Amino acid sequence: MSSVVSYELIDGIGVIKVNSPPVNALSQAVREGILNAVNKAQDDDSEAVVLLCEGRTFIAGADITEFGKPPKEPGLPEVLSALESSKKLVVAAIHGTALGGGFETALACHYRCAIPSAKVGLPEVNLGLLPGAGGTQRVPRLAGVKAALDMITSGKPVPAAQASEMGLIDEVLSGDDLQGEAIRYARDLVESGALLKRVRDIEVDKSTIEPGFFDKYRKQLAKRARGQIAQDRIVSCVEAAVELPIDKGLERERELFVELMNSPQSAAMRHAFFAEREAAKIKDLPKDTPIRDIKRVAIIGGGTMGGGIAMCFANAGIPVQIVEISDEGVERGLGIVKKNYSITVKKGKMSEEHMKSRLDLISGTTNYDDLKDVDLVIEAVFEDPKIKKEVFSKLDAVCKPGCILATNTSYQDIDEIATAVKRPEDVVGMHFFSPANVMKLLEVVRAEKTADDVLATAMKIGKKIGKVCVMARVCYGFIGNRMLQGYGRQAHMLLLDGATPTQVDAAAEEFGMAMGPIAVGDLAGLDIGYKARQALGTTPDPRTCIIADALVEMDRLGQKSGAGYYKYDPETRARQADPEVEALIKEKAKELGIEQREISKEEIVDRLFFPLINEGALILEEGVAQRPGDIDIVYLYGYGFPVARGGPMFYGDQVGLKKVYDRICEFRDTLGEDYWKPAPLLEKLAREGKTFADWAKEQA
Ligand code: 3HC
Ligand code: NAI
Repeated sequence: MSSVVSYELIDGIGVIKVNSPPVNALSQAVREGILNAVNKAQDDDSEAVVLLCEGRTFIAGADITEFGKPPKEPGLPEVLSALESSKKLVVAAIHGTALGGGFETALACHYRCAIPSAKVGLPEVNLGLLPGAGGTQRVPRLAGVKAALDMITSGKPVPAAQASEMGLIDEVLSGDDLQGEAIRYARDLVESGALLKRVRDIEVDKSTIEPGFFDKYRKQLAKRARGQIAQDRIVSCVEAAVELPIDKGLERERELFVELMNSPQSAAMRHAFFAEREAAKIKDLPKDTPIRDIKRVAIIGGGTMGGGIAMCFANAGIPVQIVEISDEGVERGLGIVKKNYSITVKKGKMSEEHMKSRLDLISGTTNYDDLKDVDLVIEAVFEDPKIKKEVFSKLDAVCKPGCILATNTSYQDIDEIATAVKRPEDVVGMHFFSPANVMKLLEVVRAEKTADDVLATAMKIGKKIGKVCVMARVCYGFIGNRMLQGYGRQAHMLLLDGATPTQVDAAAEEFGMAMGPIAVGDLAGLDIGYKARQALGTTPDPRTCIIADALVEMDRLGQKSGAGYYKYDPETRARQADPEVEALIKEKAKELGIEQREISKEEIVDRLFFPLINEGALILEEGVAQRPGDIDIVYLYGYGFPVARGGPMFYGDQVGLKKVYDRICEFRDTLGEDYWKPAPLLEKLAREGKTFADWAKEQA
């Protein structure tokens, strides 16, 4: 039939089988294959048709690699129309994940069955899109308007049993023999004289929709959508499903789908999808690099990070020991872990039983000799190179050969830490983000001597515990924290130049950041940076810290002390501008001889985000990150950068590197050279009219 779609008659049922690894996406060949098979079934001896897939999943959606390219015939609507109007009854048989266009294909069939482990969903919103092949019109007809909106705007897949309750699946099959069970189900339908149930013929149930329903829904969404337009368009489509006949609704859906497909937001989110998968690949690491077996883990230091890291392993079913300096340290560490789990249980997101089984996997000790059998150790003690080296030298003495020795350091030189052991090839960085049990990012830091299999194992175990791993090389702050310095510095300098904390945060939040930089400082605690500056023992540039230092000295440490740059409502924790701080800023600016002026929103945004792009360019040139996309993933998963902008490097490409370069030169000329030196790579690409993406292709 075709290389990716086969068709055969089995026991009188026409079986269309898609076999297009890895995820049976709806490429041109798959669309054409299904269309030909359905057409064939119209004229053969089949009594009914079953559509199913080989491999790990039912169709997982449109082929995203085809997006943005000229469309190829047949289009998906044509294929779905052939399925829906088939004169033979068509059953979709689902395993794995029927997602996006894949689920829409199933919705165009007359009946849907699924094995119990299957899931269905419309995740297009995660790509800045909406379901463009009838999902917004058919789901409300089957599941109701509210359930459809929730499903499509969240993008979350629904397990088979729940989908069945919602009316999206007609039959949950009893076993795992997909083909056999699906053929049986199709036969039962034929024998019972079941009708060709076309979802298009179902009336949308309008009874649950009160006046103003859609406006209210839009308002609720706006808070969580953070400027993403797809959510709003999804509501428009579902509204159309309620108000228009299905063909008009489908037209509206297609129109808005095309609008989104051509939007910079969707381009950014599609970039993020592929960048995340690409980041998992280490360019010079052979595919068959062996992986070390990780059965037992130890964490050294049960503080803020250690406890959270331990939870990540326990959540993945891996036993983990926390090593602390004293019994009180152990108690405190385990106590924090227990408290964190209890909060989740209280919120109803975990059962007591689950909490118990996870806590059973976490133990504490003060004795390094207990680490004889562990396969991986992650050091998370104080950020002090001397203490870290002492810990590594102790680990070297007790850990078995082949045990991976990782450090969670944020800034320290891992090559230097590795000199404390006789097996530097086993040393690697595993830099988690706070709170470690929540944040998805893990920077895996490859030191000078890290062995290939150690690196491959760190990436693999990171994925296993649910992290998105990005490899970095050793430098001060690795990828993320190194870049952040310029961002934080400019936030502070903008205040001295005349912007208020509220203006800086509002500009960053309007840009899409989860929280502006000044408010983040208050959240993290201003004393942390203060102590770090003191520990350095050098005199920092006052323009980068004079206000923060003054606030700490006034006991305004941030949220935890009720006031920092802002005042905080003791009950709601809502932030409020504080005239006292605004006066302080003016006074400090005067002290430094800075003449304050009005600062535009555009200047705030450029001064905050262009340093990220510039530092990112240096990081690429130095080989600290493998690709611009890796840097984007670090910022999307570690720093609350808005996914609809694709990450700082993609944002730079979208703005245009020439424009970024010119603006940095302008800041250099007006604000001084100290912090505004254009990176050579940025300058080169700007002159050549190229993007970081072009550069990445040349390097691949
Ligand atoms: N198109 C093209 N390639 C896809 C793809 C798609 N829809 N979905 C996954 N892939 C590729 C990945 O890029 C990856 O390639 P690589 O091996 O070269 O890196 C490979 O398939 C395997 O993907 P994962 O690593 O993500 O595999 P997992 O097993 O972890 O996850 C999955 C599988 C849950 C299907 C996940 O890949 C996924 O969520 N895919 C996207 C699903 C989606 O968004 N579908 C909607 C598409 S838009 C649409 O359908 C529009 C329609 O409404 C008209
Ligand atoms: P913390 O101060 O909360 O915890 C450190 C813990 O280590 C303390 O409980 C201490 O008792 C214990 N400890 C000290 N010396 C020890 C030793 N020799 N043996 C066993 N335990 C020992 O510190 P935090 O914030 O958890 O940071 C730990 C590491 O993680 C640091 O390197 C830090 O840079 C890094 N990190 C911190 C992040 C954060 O946001 N807090 C984020 C990412 C990394």
